[in-house]
Amino acid sequence: MQNNPSKNKIILAITGATGAMLGIRALEILKKANVETHLIISGPARLTIAQETDRSIAEIEALADVNYQPEDIAAPIASGSYPTKGMLILPCSIKTLSQVANAQTDNLIARAADVCLKEGRSLILAVRESPLHRGHIRLMDLAAASGAIIAPPMPIFYHRPQNLEEMTDQIVARLIQRLVIPLPDIFQWP
Ligand SMILES: Cc1cc2nc3c(=O)[nH]c(=O)nc-3n(C[C@H](O)[C@H](O)[C@H](O)COP(=O)(O)O)c2cc1C
Repeated sequence: MQNNPSKNKIILAITGATGAMLGIRALEILKKANVETHLIISGPARLTIAQETDRSIAEIEALADVNYQPEDIAAPIASGSYPTKGMLILPCSIKTLSQVANAQTDNLIARAADVCLKEGRSLILAVRESPLHRGHIRLMDLAAASGAIIAPPMPIFYHRPQNLEEMTDQIVARLIQRLVIPLPDIFQWP
């Protein structure tokens, strides 16, 4: 499945902020949309996945087309010569935000994100923390100045979600659409 030139390729990183299910749902939606996914799960995300979901890592990795370890700094997606449409970090911890904002590229998540920025590709950081201190806000400003899209995973209510799944799906679908991947099922106003 690697390097299929006819398919859109998206890098998806799940980091150790709360909301692991959002990243997992993104994998499912991207699979349905026939998008090739390149997945990196951080070490701390393994903890949140165990804490917050009933999914095994193997089950989640099976949803992706290509899987990488965060330590694999020599992976294809660590190079700008490997073409992708962009990257979504969902959820994005403050630690990873800080690494991206400061171009501190000592793991594959931060390096692949930095590559997207330097190559002018979309990078969405679904930063999940609350409340935010001024240092967090400064980091978001810094990352945005380098071209990152700061998109905290916030729920919407005007489509009247009936359950957590419907709420989750809208959050995730909007983030994916921001990568300019059209999804037929997303709620549109009015
Ligand atoms: C259950 C749990 C929930 C967490 N929630 C958050 C969060 O919402 N936001 C955040 O920035 N960090 C959160 N953390 C802390 C991060 O996991 C920690 O800072 C970690 O170093 C992030 O590393 P990573 O970005 O490489 O995944 C949480 C940790 C745990 C165990």
